[in-house]
Parts: sequence; structure tokens; C-alpha cells
Amino acid sequence: MKILGIETSCDETAAAVVENGRKVLSSVISSQIALHAKTGGVVPEVAAREHVPQMIPVIEEALKKADLKLEEIDAIAVTAGPGLLSSLIIGFTTGMGLAKALEKPLIPVHHVAGHMYANFLQTSDEIQFPFVTLTVSGGHNELYLLREHLGFEKLGETLDDAAGEAFDKVAVLLGLPYPGGPAISKVAKNGDQMKIRFPRARLGKESLDFSFSGLKTAVLVEVKAEFAREGKLSDQFIADCAASFQEAVCDVLVSKLLFAAKKYKVCELHLAGGVSANKRLRELLMSQIQVQKFNENLKVRFSQELSYCTDNAAMIAGVAYYYFQKNPGKYSANPAFFPNPQLHILNTFENEK
Ligand code: KG4
Ligand code: ZN
Repeated sequence: MKILGIETSCDETAAAVVENGRKVLSSVISSQIALHAKTGGVVPEVAAREHVPQMIPVIEEALKKADLKLEEIDAIAVTAGPGLLSSLIIGFTTGMGLAKALEKPLIPVHHVAGHMYANFLQTSDEIQFPFVTLTVSGGHNELYLLREHLGFEKLGETLDDAAGEAFDKVAVLLGLPYPGGPAISKVAKNGDQMKIRFPRARLGKESLDFSFSGLKTAVLVEVKAEFAREGKLSDQFIADCAASFQEAVCDVLVSKLLFAAKKYKVCELHLAGGVSANKRLRELLMSQIQVQKFNENLKVRFSQELSYCTDNAAMIAGVAYYYFQKNPGKYSANPAFFPNPQLHILNTFENEK
């Protein structure tokens, strides 16, 4: 089954064709990073307007790369939420229009479910349940347990900022460019992660929730103190601060993911979302699995292709296959008008359990 996926939840206009949930025939992403770098973050109205001229050319390119005509597509999948409503609407209405015109099923997809299923793209091995996934990006920071396909059981979530949001805000404090994650990770290579002992919010021994706002404030305090001492931030200070901050984030993320893996005796554990592209996070996870002597059959998944970690449409087309297999009759070529796509999809996500 060949599914055309569409994703416009934030600042990426993306389209992709994926076969049977795993084989990526094409994945095209038009990024607005340069536009939002000027404001140090995404301005929703600016993002939404930019999706409009990009949407159709991006779909055309995805079809061309997959060497398929629109009529050869079996279903249309589109991110319905969560995300910036004004951005979501561009992709959602495009998907609805295509489904109606082609008389093909429209599969509305939850963005975070897409991130989780990105780990199966371009793989063919058996998926083993139960597995636990840490979804960590600019907008989300959650731990999910899946005992079966699409059976999302939320184990924990951030009480304030997502880790990606903290990366982006700390980058601003250190004078680094947007998006903050890759910029911090780059300068951290020259820094000492032990230089500043930033706080780790554990929120109790057994808690699977997260909090990064205190860490953000701790960085602000350090930056202000350095200004008071030196009158500027040296390259070495920025590198040490970035490395120490990154270590504090990764430490908390890894320890909670591993705690959940033990508690639920999982067969697989996954990292997903934009922050899962972080090299130190991956390294620390692998080394802690060794240190904590996990079963050697434990399967660890994170995407080797970094463009599948950050927002993309292949993950949307990928997860849509599983939604469709579970309940093919649910997806109509002529869907009722959803005045608010976010409300619709949030309800369906909760009900998947
Ligand atoms: O998944 P994504 O593209 O969008 C959301 O759904 O939010 O994630 C974007 C986030 C940004 O906050 C960005 O700074 C972060 O992922 N990110 C990283 C890295 N690459 C992207 N954070 C840490 N290290 C990275 N290498
Ligand atoms: Zn995302």
C-alpha cells in the first residue's frame, strides 16, 4: 500500500511516499529555518503563510522522486495535530482536497505517533512488543509504552518545557543561532561537561515526568554571573556551558527512559523526535545500557537518517499504514468537515488505547 504523507505542523512543509509503513519511496522537506533564524524562533503567522506556496511543489516533487502519478497513490495521510493550528490547516485542507478529488481514503495522523513510527522507516525486522519510546522534540517530551501497534500508554510527560524548547532557549542565552539543538551540540564538542554542575530535576525516585524550566533558569544565572565577572561570554565559557547543559538534559532523559524500560520489562526501547538526533544522547543511552547490564537481546532503535528524527512526512505516511490496517473502514475518501483538526485527532489518539 503506497501512502502519500503530508506534514505542516510547524515550520517544515513536507511530503513523502511510503510503502507498507516502512519503505520510503521519497521524502521531501522544505525547511523554513533561514526565515525563522531572523526572529530566533517560529512566528506562527509567518510559518503558515510560507507553507502556502511550498505545499503543492513539495507534493509534486515527492511524487516525482517516487516515480508515481497521483492516481497510483492508495491513500492520503496528513498531520492533524498537535501543532500550530494555522500551519496544520494548510496541510490538512490540502490532504482533504486531494482525498476528495482522488476518491482515496484520508488518514488523519497524530504528529507524535508519526515521530514514534519514524523508527521503523527503512527497516524490515520484526517489531517486538512491549516497547517504550521517549519522544523528545521542541514541542513534546513524553514517554510512551506500546504493548501493541498504536496502543499508546503515556507513562510521563514534561511539566513545563520540552527538552528541545530548553535547547532552543539556552542557545539564545548563549548567543547561538536557531535551532538551538544542533548549535549547542556543535559548540559542546569543545567544552567540558563537568565544568558546571547544573541541576537535574528528578521529580521523585519513581517519577517518569520531566521538568526543564529550572535548568533553563540555572543557565541564565550562570550567564549573568559570567557577564558580571568578565563583561562578556568567552568562547570557552559558551562551550563549557553548552556541554554542561547538554549533559544535564541527556542524563535525565536517559535515566528516565531506562527506568521505564526496566519497570515494564520491554523488548525494545526507542528515541524519537528532533532531540533524538543528539549524538551525546545516543552515546549516553548506549553506554548506560552497558553499565546497567540490560539483557543483550534488548533492541534499541533511533533513526540513522537524521531527517527522520526532526519533522518530516515519511513518518506520517509510515504510521498511517498501521492506522489503516487496524481499521480500514474508518477512513473515508469523503471525510466530514473537521472545523478543528487538532480536536479531531487528539480525541482519536486518546481512544487508540
Ligand atoms: O521534531 P522537531 O523537528 O519538531 C517538533 O515537533 O518540535 O524537533 C525540533 C527540536 C528543536 O527544539 C531542535 O533544537 C531540536 O529538536 N534538535 C536537537 C538536535 N537537532 C534538533 N536538539 C538537540 N540536539 C540536536 N542535535
Ligand atoms: Zn515534531
